[in-house]
Parts: sequence; C-alpha cells; structure tokens
Amino acid sequence: MTETQKSATLTLNGENYELPIFSPTAGPDVVDIRKLYAQAGVFTYDPGFTSTASCDSTITYIDGDKGELLHRGYPIDQLASKSHYLEVCYLLLYGELPTAAQLEDFETRVTRHTMVHEQMHNFFRGFRRDAHPMATLVGVVGAMSAFYHDSLDVTDPWQREVAAVRLIAKLPTIAAMAYKYSIGQPFVYPRNDLDYAANFLHMCFSVPAEEYHVNPILSRAMDRILTLHADHEQNASTSTVRLASSSGANPFACIAAGIACLWGPAHGGANQACLEMLKEIGTVDRIPEYIARAKDKNDPFRLMGFGHRVYKNTDPRAKVLKQSADEVLELLGVDDNPLLQVAKELERTALHDEYFIQKKLFPNVDFYSGIILEAMGFPTSMFTPIFALSRTVGWISQWKEMIADPQNKIGRPRQLYLGETMRDYVDIEQR
Ligand code: CMC
Repeated sequence: MTETQKSATLTLNGENYELPIFSPTAGPDVVDIRKLYAQAGVFTYDPGFTSTASCDSTITYIDGDKGELLHRGYPIDQLASKSHYLEVCYLLLYGELPTAAQLEDFETRVTRHTMVHEQMHNFFRGFRRDAHPMATLVGVVGAMSAFYHDSLDVTDPWQREVAAVRLIAKLPTIAAMAYKYSIGQPFVYPRNDLDYAANFLHMCFSVPAEEYHVNPILSRAMDRILTLHADHEQNASTSTVRLASSSGANPFACIAAGIACLWGPAHGGANQACLEMLKEIGTVDRIPEYIARAKDKNDPFRLMGFGHRVYKNTDPRAKVLKQSADEVLELLGVDDNPLLQVAKELERTALHDEYFIQKKLFPNVDFYSGIILEAMGFPTSMFTPIFALSRTVGWISQWKEMIADPQNKIGRPRQLYLGETMRDYVDIEQR
C-alpha cells in the first residue's frame, strides 16, 4: 500500500480536513478516513460496506466491471483449467505457486490430517438425523476447538499453521460425515491414496457393503467446483471470519462463524435455493410467471443464482462451471433432464430481458454449481456444505494474513443512532 501525493479534502463547518489517499496495485484508490473521527468528530455511514475497504490484502483481486478474478495475480480460468484445488490452496496460503517438492510436501501434510478424532463420532450422534448438514457443520467445526487444544494459540505461527492444515484436511471428512449421518449410513473413513476431490466423493458415496470407484470426470468436476469457490476476497463470510478473529478468537471458532454466515440464501445458501427454485418452476412454460415475479417490486421473490454485489458484467467462475456442467451432464446422460431444460430456458430468457440487462443481472457461480452437484447425486442440502469446505482455504488464508498484520486491531464499527435519547424509567403501574 503506497500513500500517494494525492489527498481528498473534506470541508465540515468551515474547516478543511486532508484525507490521505492510498493507491492499490489494482483497483480504485482508497481514501484513508482512520483519523477522521479524532480530527473532525464525525463518523462515515456505509451500511453493507458498498464503498468501504475493511483491510488491505494481497490474496485475491476482483474487477467486477471486467468480470475478472485473480488469486495472487493468476486468473481463475487459468487456475481452473491448468491447476487443481490443493495447488490453489497452497497459492492462497503461501502467496506463490509451489515447486513440485513443495506441493508434494503440502499434499502429504493435508493427507495426513484427513481423519477426525474418533470421539467426534459420538459428538455427531448428538444431532437429530434430519438436521441440515450446515447446522451440523457449524456445530462440529466450532467443536474442533474442544478436540485440538494444541492448535488454538493464535499468537504462535506454528499452531496457526497446524490449525490451517487441519481445517483444510478435515472439512471434507466432516461434511461427508454430516451427509452420511443425515441419510442413516455409516461414516466412511478417508482414503489417503485418493486425491482431495476423489476422496470426498468416496466418503460421500461409498458404502462398506460394496466397492466404489470414483469416476475421474466427476472427481475432476468436483475439483473444479472446489477450485472456483476457494476464495473471493472480502465477501460476507470472509469478513465474518476476519471480524470474529479480530478479537483473538481461536481459528475453529472463527471458521464456524464463517460457515454460519455462508449459510444464508443471499450468499452460499443460494446454490440450494437456486435448485429448489428450478424444481418449483418445474416446467419451461412456467418461466414467464417467475420472471414476472422477480421483476415485481412488491414481491420479495428473486431469481436465485442471478446477480452479484461485485460482478456487473459476468461472473468468471460461472463461465468455467457452465462448461463443466455440460461435460458432467453429458457423461451422466442426463442432458435432457427437465430441470436442466428449465435452467437453460430460464438463463436464456433472463439474459434477453430488459430488466436483467439493465440491472446487470446474470447467472452467478451458484446457478451452475447446483446443477452439477444435483447430477452427481448430492441432495440440495449438501450444496452449501460443499461451498463451505471449498471456501475454508480462503477464510484461513485471509485469517492468517490478518493475524500476521501488525495493524490488526479489534473490528468495531460505529453506528448512526436513531433511537430515543435519554429518558427516565417509568414504573410499571404508570405505563
Ligand atoms: N432477481 C431479481 N432482481 C434482483 C436480483 C435477482 N436475483 N438481484 C438483484 N436484483 C435487483 C434488486 O431488486 C435491485 O433492484 P432495484 O435497484 O430496483 O431495487 C437491484 O437488482 C440491485 O440489487 P441489490 O440487492 O441492491 O444488489 P446487491 O449487490 O445488494 O445484492 C445479491 C447482490 C447477490 C445479494 C443479489 O443479486 C441476490 O439476492 N441474488 C440472488 C441470490 C444469489 O444468487 N446469491 C449468490 C451470490 S454469488 C455467491 C455468493 O456470494 O455466495
């Protein structure tokens, strides 16, 4: 971050205040308002953080107008086609692409942490069978702090490293266990001879009674879904992780907070909501009715899987996933599936509709990921847990960056108070 010669002048009650301007390596300049309250006695107001940078970061860059997503400078489409999930994890965590030896060492470290403490099995059994797997995930990941006491001290870089590897390694195991528990099947232990994505499919779909072979096209598609969701700079769940950790909370508690935030339908929960919406529409002839509802100001309905806070041109992740969806559906011989027909026609109609064009609303990553996951055999309730396990590396990378930053201080937003001013307590008989 370099302070430029430029500054902004704020004039308030006849006084001028000079505000320094920082230039990022990419993106718009940033006005530094940190001393504004101390100097001018005013706060700034920005609900939803539409104009506020909450931190500086070197991990991920998004240009929403160009539809560009870079991890450590590398474009997401190159990473999705040439790299794979664990290599992208390394890149996000350590800043550079690994050498062959570094990658092998990292993969070994992750693989050696895939099992969970055996006592955690009992912990799972405390949940109702019909619990949403996201509810189980929030609880079990939070409970990791009760199982892994030797990686809770956030001031110790070694413990931070161990916690990071544990979370990346165990999230697929925990998500698969949540799924198996919900369908009444036995937990399946990880297999360390499989790659990360194939192992996850194995833990979800194999049963002890018979052999299960992971189809390489499906594991490649799963790897791509994981890669495309790995990080997305300061989105709601990442900001939640940063805010939780700003108090010094342990990494497992912070990631559980991120998972809780991701669950919402405006964020990671959109992939489940999108598939449920496609099922509710059911047939192509009902699409106009739903498009009309999405456009109606008096109807809270929104087309799930459409629109994005930052991307206003195209979601680069959606472009890659659309291609993966075609491959997977063809492989599985379900490309004439009625749900897919509805999805394709909905996409076509919305992209030609003046409302969606004018508001720059187009399919986002959640529109296609749900279609692929459904075709693979996952129930809709597993879509958001899969998003959570892929985003864990992004949360962890941002958390590590934040803890190592000497400027790190507890997050404490201000408010515009519109409530009552001080008044005297009224006894109950007089109210
Ligand atoms: N369907 C219909 N209208 C929409 C939609 C939609 N999906 N999204 C935005 N709009 C309209 C909205 O009504 C508003 O209209 P007006 O200006 O007339 O009030 C305008 O477009 C701008 O919307 P906004 O809510 O101010 O935009 P935002 O940046 O705050 O919200 C969003 C972004 C992703 C929450 C929103 O587009 C949305 O709710 N989409 C559906 C949920 C979804 O697919 N979420 C996944 C996002 S990508 C993955 C992730 O982040 O986890």
